[in-house]
Amino acid sequence: MARQKQLRFAALQHMPNVIDGTGSPAGWFDHTCGATTPVVVELGCGRGEYTLALARRSPGQMFLGVDRNGARLWNGARTALDAGLTNAFFLRLPIEQLADHVPRGRIAELWIPFPDPLPKRRQSQHRLVSPEFLRQYRALLTRGGSIRLKTDDARLIAFAEHAVRTVGGQLITASDHRPTDHDEEAIQTAYERKYRRQGRTIYERQFVLAPALAAGVAL
Ligand SMILES: C[S@@+](CC[C@H](N)C(=O)[O-])C[C@H]1O[C@@H](n2cnc3c(N)ncnc32)[C@H](O)[C@@H]1O
Repeated sequence: MARQKQLRFAALQHMPNVIDGTGSPAGWFDHTCGATTPVVVELGCGRGEYTLALARRSPGQMFLGVDRNGARLWNGARTALDAGLTNAFFLRLPIEQLADHVPRGRIAELWIPFPDPLPKRRQSQHRLVSPEFLRQYRALLTRGGSIRLKTDDARLIAFAEHAVRTVGGQLITASDHRPTDHDEEAIQTAYERKYRRQGRTIYERQFVLAPALAAGVAL
């Protein structure tokens, strides 16, 4: 298994749809995603299931999956190449460094499906929806750009809503899916399928961080 991880990690360096954040060339973002078009980004994309599904749905839009785990990222990148998907790219990077690699105001939508909940209090700053992360995302989002969070963890939802309020953002939409709900349209990663099988509710929230442009839901 460790050997397979090493091989995948090595292969990643040569995949044309992978950018390695440790040595990304200057201007890679414009070169890869186009100089002006806003991009849709998935944070903590793991095996890239969400990024791939979004890219298949919207061929005219650019998608970027970000994760620090190269072996997981390999799966998404390999599938995109095999399927001939030319609008899905993957960036291997700790999300803490995202603002060093993505120009300001270029992300139209930021997806965070099933992030690690990190339940211990001392881990809270590492949650991908902490105020520290949200402040970083705000600079990268387009005017009116939004954040989409999906999780089975009610405590993480409460934490995220509080964090959004802390940075002056606003909740735009909220939906709680019961395990029995059938939503043909929903993209489901392995995590979501597992949680649904376990009978867990799936919470979905959409936030804006800039002063609200749309009518928000009171928190
Ligand atoms: C629970 S998995 C979810 C994967 C995917 N979103 C899905 O639904 O299948 C969380 C992912 O976030 C990544 N991750 C967590 N914190 C990160 C960070 N600070 N920087 C980069 N990746 C991170 C992990 O490596 C892992 O692949």
